[in-house]
Amino acid sequence: MNTKDHILQDSFARQITYLRVSLTDHCNFRCSYCKPRGVENKLERSQLLSYEELIRIITIAVGIGIKKIRLTGGEPLLRRNILEFIRQLVAIPGLEDIRITTNGSLLPEMAANLYALGIRKVNISLDTLRRDRFKEITGVQAFDRVYDAINQVIALGFDPIKINVVAMRGVNDDELVDFSELTRSRKIQVRFIEFMPVGAQSSWDKKFYLPTEEIRQTIERGGQLEAIPSQQIDGPARVYRLPGATGTIGFISPLSEHFCDRCNRLRLTSEGKLRSCLLTDQETDLRSLLRAGCKDEKIIELLIKTIHDKPKGHLLGRDGGSCHGQMSRIGG
Ligand code: 5AD
Ligand code: SF4
Repeated sequence: MNTKDHILQDSFARQITYLRVSLTDHCNFRCSYCKPRGVENKLERSQLLSYEELIRIITIAVGIGIKKIRLTGGEPLLRRNILEFIRQLVAIPGLEDIRITTNGSLLPEMAANLYALGIRKVNISLDTLRRDRFKEITGVQAFDRVYDAINQVIALGFDPIKINVVAMRGVNDDELVDFSELTRSRKIQVRFIEFMPVGAQSSWDKKFYLPTEEIRQTIERGGQLEAIPSQQIDGPARVYRLPGATGTIGFISPLSEHFCDRCNRLRLTSEGKLRSCLLTDQETDLRSLLRAGCKDEKIIELLIKTIHDKPKGHLLGRDGGSCHGQMSRIGG
């Protein structure tokens, strides 16, 4: 089979060129909406895909047309010898774009090494700019580390740097303007994400849900936002700028504006399952196949089948659809 000839197109004419990989479900934070305290069912090391297995799958996926990879989790930087893995990843021919989503806590020690390996694109999750509140939300006091990490990646020249803020009514809705003000003089994109009913289901309550429209109105009290025409690299975000600002503001509205029609993603969960939609519980087990000694062709077949079966869209916010998977395993 000439794998280069494949075009990764799904049944709804979307080109699937982006693979998100959850490297581990482990995390050193306990964000209330992701892992409520007391709930602990971490995967064993043998249940995670090994680096060898990951490199094999990613190399095959790139061979058939995947161009962009995001490493996520859980907290991907917690994985042992991650820099060695990234060194191998960077060497895969045809892989144009490698990004990392992290909670930022381990970046102060690792940012310079990541930069040296060629990583330039990083998303850092940060839901509050207040120390006391940071501990309430994440369960640990690491605000200073994360804030330092942001300054460090700016200084090193990472680009783009995106700060992911899950906007929650009654939790951090009094900080929306403070977050948007960060973009005035910093080359970052602050992205407000609507709180989704996934992961720790028990902690989701409609009362926390804050639609993008309300966030935008709050921010615009400080000045009209200028729309920036959407670019492929923004993915699902709608992007704006405060007048004269260095950075940008993005809105990700999984509930109020379904962006499934422009979704180009495939996911690999930390336990080696292929998943074509974050919000639809439909997975194919690649790990068992790999461990049973399957050939590359079989992996290609499954990748293509998963893409072909990608659902048109999710049902969240419509028919009370919900996702039961654990966000840190699937990859946030
Ligand atoms: N709704 C919205 N975003 C979420 N994340 C985790 N759980 C949710 C949720 N229920 C975000 C994290 C992080 C990214 C990996 O996913 O805050 O920014
Ligand atoms: Fe960790 Fe991210 Fe989940 Fe918070 S949201 S507990 S940082 S994986």
